[in-house]
Parts: sequence; C-alpha cells; structure tokens
Amino acid sequence: FAKPVRHIAVVGAGYVGGPTAAVIALHNPQIRVEVLDKDQRRVRRWNSPHLPIHESGLLDIVRVTRDGASLSPRENANGQAQVTLAERVPNLFFTTDSQTSLAKADMVLLAVNTPTKTFGIGAGRATNMTTFDAAVKEVALYTRPGTVIVEKSTVPCGTAQRVRQMLDAVRPEQPFEILSNPEFLSEGSAVRNLLQPDRVLIGSAKTPSGRRAADSLASVYAAWVPRSRILEIDAWSSELAKLVSNAMLAQRISSINSISAICDRTGADVDEIAKSAGLDPRIGPQFLKAGLGFGGSCFRKDIASLTYLAESLGLPEVAHYWSQVNSMNDWQRDRFAHKVIQRMEENLVGKKIAILGFAFKKNTGDTRESLAVDVIRVLLQERPGEIAIFDPCCLSEDIMRELEPILDTTTRDRVHVYPDAYQACEQANAVVIVNDSDPFKRSPGKKSRKSSGSAVIDTSSEQETKDIHIDGSRFSYQPCQSPICAEDCPDCQSTKTRGTISLEPVEWARIAYGMKEPKWAFDGRGVLDVPEMEKLGFRVDTLGRHT
Ligand code: NAD
Ligand code: UGA
Repeated sequence: FAKPVRHIAVVGAGYVGGPTAAVIALHNPQIRVEVLDKDQRRVRRWNSPHLPIHESGLLDIVRVTRDGASLSPRENANGQAQVTLAERVPNLFFTTDSQTSLAKADMVLLAVNTPTKTFGIGAGRATNMTTFDAAVKEVALYTRPGTVIVEKSTVPCGTAQRVRQMLDAVRPEQPFEILSNPEFLSEGSAVRNLLQPDRVLIGSAKTPSGRRAADSLASVYAAWVPRSRILEIDAWSSELAKLVSNAMLAQRISSINSISAICDRTGADVDEIAKSAGLDPRIGPQFLKAGLGFGGSCFRKDIASLTYLAESLGLPEVAHYWSQVNSMNDWQRDRFAHKVIQRMEENLVGKKIAILGFAFKKNTGDTRESLAVDVIRVLLQERPGEIAIFDPCCLSEDIMRELEPILDTTTRDRVHVYPDAYQACEQANAVVIVNDSDPFKRSPGKKSRKSSGSAVIDTSSEQETKDIHIDGSRFSYQPCQSPICAEDCPDCQSTKTRGTISLEPVEWARIAYGMKEPKWAFDGRGVLDVPEMEKLGFRVDTLGRHT
C-alpha cells in the first residue's frame, strides 16, 4: 500500500516550486506543505501580500492556504448553506529553515534551477547540476530514511540514478525512493495549468517499493487530477519525456519562423500558412505563431540538454537535428534586429528606439532569456541616441540586471526603462514590439477592450474583505492594505517591488502623435493591425506578414 503523505517539503520557491506547492496545499488540506528557499528576500516576499511572482489566481490560492482564509458556507442551487462556516487551517509555509522542514518531510519535491553549463565539458549544452546536487546533499543530510525524493526540476536523463548514488554515498543501506515528476506549466498560465494539467508524469524504479512511492505521489495529485491523466512510467522515460515535450514545442516555433523568412522573400503570408496547416487536426494550431522566436529559461536549455544527451550517446546526427531548432531561433532574432536597422537606412545614430515588451512572453515579469536583450545588443552597435524600454509586467531593476552584461560605459546611460508606453515612445523614431503583451495588441481603430487576461494580478483592493471562489467553495480574506508596493512597503519591506500592474490597451493614436517622422513600427510578434496602424501614419514592418 502507498504510504499516506502528511508533510511535503518543496525545495526552491521559484516559478515552479511556489505555484506547485500552493496548488498541492489547496487540494490537500491534510498535508502540510513547506517551501524552502535559500534566498531570504524571496521567502520574505512569499510570506507577504506581494508575491515574488505574478500568476493569475496565485495570490488567491496562497491567501487561502498560507493565511487560512475563512471558508464561507457552500450554497446549493436554492441558495441554502450546505456546510457551516469554518476557518481553513493554514497548510502552506515558506521558510529558509531547510533542516527542520526536511527532517519532518515524508516527501521532498526538488524544484531548484537547472541552467545550462557555461564552462568545462559540455559548456553551452550540458546541464549545470551544481545547484541541484547541493539541494540533494541537504536532502541526504537531513531527511528521515524512507523519505520519497521527487525531481520536479527539469533534469538530464539518468538523474534519478545519480540522486540514488549520491544518497547511497551519504546514507548507505537506507531506503530512499527517487521519482521523476516533471512540470509542464507555462508561465503566465501556471495556475490554470496546475489546476487542470493535461497529464501528470510519475517516473519510478520498476520495483515494488518504487511503485509504492509512485502511488503515494499519485494520491497527492489524485485529490484534484483525474486518475486517467496520471501516468506512472519508468524514471528514464519520464525524464526524457519532459525534454522531448519542450523540444517539440520549440521545434514548431522554429519551423514556422523558417517559413516566415520565405514569406518575407515571396510575399506569402505566414499567418495564413500557419492557419491552413493548423486546421489539419494531425498538425493542430498551437505553437505556430511566427515571430521573434522563443525566449524564456527553458526551451533553449532543454534542447541543449537533449542535444548533449544525443552527443553523449554517440548520435551526432540526432544532436545536430535538435541543435538546429536553437540555431534557427538565434537566426530569426538576428534577422529581425537587422531588418530594423536596414529599414532605418542603416543609420540609428542619435535616434530613439522604443522597445515595447521585455519579458519573454506576455503575462509574466520573468526577464530571464529575454529576446529583447539580443535585439537591443544588435541595435546598440549602431549607436542609437536612446533605447527606451517599457513592459507592463517587468520591474525596472530586473530589466537592467538582464541588460547589464551587454552594456558598457558608452551605452549604459543610453538605455532607460519607462513606466508606460507613452513615455517610452515620446519623440521615438521607431517602436519595436518584442513580446505579445495584451496592451500592445489592440488595433488602433477598434474600441479599446479591457484586457481579459487578468494574468498578472495583485488582488489588493480597498475592500475590507475579498471573496474568491475556488472549486465551488467560497473563501474570504483580508486584502493587502498596501495596494502599491513601494520602497517603503510595510508588508514585504522589499525595495522597489511592483505596484499594481495595468494591462490597459495602449492608444496607438496617442503614441503616433508623440513620435518623430517617419514613424516606424516593427512588429516582432504579429500583434498589430497593420492597415489600421498605417492609417495612423505608421510605417509597419513585420516577420512574414503581408495581409
Ligand atoms: P527559479 O530560479 O525561479 O527557482 C529556483 C529557486 O530555487 C530559487 O528561488 C533558488 O533560490 C532556489 N534554490 C536553489 N538552490 C536551493 C537550495 N539548495 N535550497 C533551497 N532553495 C534553493 O526556477 P524555476 O523557473 O522555478 O525552475 C525550476 C526548475 O523547473 C528548472 O529545472 C526548470 O527547468 C523547471 N521548469 C520551469 C518552468 C517554468 O515555467 N519556469 C516550467 C517547467 C519546468
Ligand atoms: C514552456 C512550455 O510551454 C511548458 O509546457 C514548459 O513546462 C515550460 O516551457 C518549461 O519547461 O519551462 P513557457 O516557456 O513558460 O513554457 O512559455 P511558452 O508559452 O511555451 O512560450 C515560450 C516562448 O515561445 C515564448 O517566448 C513565446 O513567445 C514563444 N512562442 C510560443 C512563439 O514564438 N510562438 C508560439 O506559437 C508559441
């Protein structure tokens, strides 16, 4: 029989660890979930009303599980209460005290970062396991025998075996089971993906105790995921399946981007081609949006990891095949940056270029592997007067940190981050759209719609209490009293944290009014209504779009 799970420790309070822990806690009130992180500032913010990451619905779930919001009576169709009012006991905790949490845990989820190695053997392809290994060592030191160790991080194939060997070295002869349980959430829709996953993979050793451990983890997910979506497989297949999923998604993007280049030369329209191909149910419409390419912390590194695996297995053709997905991505980004320069008569000297969007996609403030960095790097070589950046979801300090490696004494004071699109575009010669944030999308001629994507939320409000509905239950909680979290925020005591984010559509007419002639708009994401923009006096260029 699977052992009941009472305490879960999640190592790493990042984009995966935090939301995953919150959703597990929400659906398993009997389990105490403790999230550990070395980064004190991050933990402080997880314990504050201003979470370190912004995902639609996340704050609501954290309020319920961490703060124990009161559970209002559930009503039946006639409006009669079916359950009595009850306080929900908090079962989600964030801490830096790894020793205490690990010692209590029946199950440890490892959700630490696993970047690409930048040095030594396999540099640029292999995974840098330093952080992961350090976390495993702590687990080996402090956990009780029999604790189930779960890889939530994306790791190279064979890592379960590696963890077993590390545990054997520190705790010989003690029973530990290692599971692979890769995460498939996307940033910007993390809560939805976690609440309604397409599938949950659990990879284990094919031994009775391995299967028992897998069943224990399956029972945690079964609290809200239909059993038919929980697949129990072997650890190698599970580890490889994660890399393959990301590689195949990225491959579709590189494929359609390669076609966008053909469209630019021929006058064919890449959106029409994607639509036509995507209508074939064997192909499907998703991940066929041509643009600047894929950014973010995972696609590039996971393809690199797959490439390295193939190389290590003596399969250079396979390695070459997958490495082309990353190469095409780099090429497309450079192609776009050079298009901007060429269109502006190869002379950016003294000109102001506004960059709209910095995060790798909409609805996230994650600036890691931002596509904007490479575009800006190429543009800066042409000595523009100013690069002016605006992203509705990113913090200025995060943007400047990402740019730091490409800046020097001659360029640093020419790059500025602005609090809105209008200031960024004021007196600009060109506006370059780098991500698909909803505010940039609206066509200028149509009536402004409020963004439906409440993806980035800070549910702070001036109400005394706020009601939220999760899975048919209604919870009430006290909203934060500091709606704008500033340098002196009494709640999280953090410097320069985020205020309330506005996803209001930008008024392109107002932007056009403030820009210099000729008003160039370079659409790296296919979000603009080109004819309408042209009516406002913009000259628009895109990637493979002609209608
Ligand atoms: P992240 O950088 O946001 O979070 C990792 C956290 O781990 C950091 O806060 C770091 O301080 C903490 N940490 C590192 N070592 C620690 C230790 N020994 N003890 C305690 N805390 C420690 O990373 P992320 O984006 O959440 O990604 C984590 C893993 O999940 C990666 O392997 C990634 O490939 C994978 N993944 C990420 C996503 C995503 O959307 N970001 C989706 C699926 C899978
Ligand atoms: C991706 C996967 O979608 C997740 O399933 C996976 O769990 C995650 O990586 C991970 O392992 O980290 P994410 O990177 O958050 O999620 O975001 P995506 O929506 O996949 O977008 C990635 C990049 O591709 C973005 O830059 C996006 O703009 C770009 N993209 C996406 C396109 O250029 N075209 C498309 O059609 C779709």
